[in-house]
Amino acid sequence: MNPKLRLYLSAERAFGVESIRRPIGSGAAASDEAAPVARVTPALQNIAHSSPRVAPTVPSFAPRPPVERTSPPSVTTSYMPEPTMPLLPVEPFTATLLSTAQKRLRLEQLDEKQVRNCTKCRLCETRTQTVFGEGDVDAKLLFIGEGPGENEDLSGRPFVGRAGQLLDKMIAAMGLQREQVYIANIVKCRPPNNRAPMHDETAACTPYLMDQVETVRPKVIVTLGLPATRFVLQSDLSMGKMRGQFHDWRGIQVMPTYHPSYVLRSYTPQTRAAVWSDLQQVMNVLGLKVEGKKSDAP
Ligand code: URA
Repeated sequence: MNPKLRLYLSAERAFGVESIRRPIGSGAAASDEAAPVARVTPALQNIAHSSPRVAPTVPSFAPRPPVERTSPPSVTTSYMPEPTMPLLPVEPFTATLLSTAQKRLRLEQLDEKQVRNCTKCRLCETRTQTVFGEGDVDAKLLFIGEGPGENEDLSGRPFVGRAGQLLDKMIAAMGLQREQVYIANIVKCRPPNNRAPMHDETAACTPYLMDQVETVRPKVIVTLGLPATRFVLQSDLSMGKMRGQFHDWRGIQVMPTYHPSYVLRSYTPQTRAAVWSDLQQVMNVLGLKVEGKKSDAP
């Protein structure tokens, strides 16, 4: 089969959409926050998953024990990235918006039936447990981080370490509670030593994230840091170039901002003011009261 047609079909299968966008760039890392852009490759054409719509019972915040595996998966060599273009759908979501109960069921099924036992990339070999994401399934605001760190890997919840504490402060500064937003990551398993997710890991895992976004259907997505921003915007620009302005993606307004871990590493008035200004723009769009003092920056 023609290689271009094969690539197109594999992306179609991976993301389950009718049209895909051409990439903006090739995704070379550019800063100390840099990470590769996700790519969909023919080798990954089996990663597509379907989203069950039947019903679980456990709410997404419920604590859960780590999943025990009897035989370790052996996937290390089968997901070597190929030098192909990043592809992500850009068409607005058209599926009917689900009710709150239907959204919960769908996400819980996705977690329990697919994510929790996922062995689609090498990260399953080193994780303690998967970190699906959590929050209000009807949230107007969805945060996308990079991937679980040590605390998240141990607890099974996103953003519970130091970066999570700062994210909590950012959410509070917006006049919201953590439970009112939805929080997810581009990969559901901790990359060893907290390295950035690799292309093929991102490509294998992000169909789950796409499902989460399509289900929650937020008004605004805040991408935290370069890997999440590059994945959503399919761009290899620097964070400095992408943050601070809204980008449209599938009918959702996307605001890139610095990752809380980066803010902690570079805790300067400039970085904090930049993040605060990004969040204030988001507050504006969400109709939240903006009281614009720089000293309010979390
Ligand atoms: N950093 C992330 O990007 N995600 C988490 O869940 C925790 C830290």
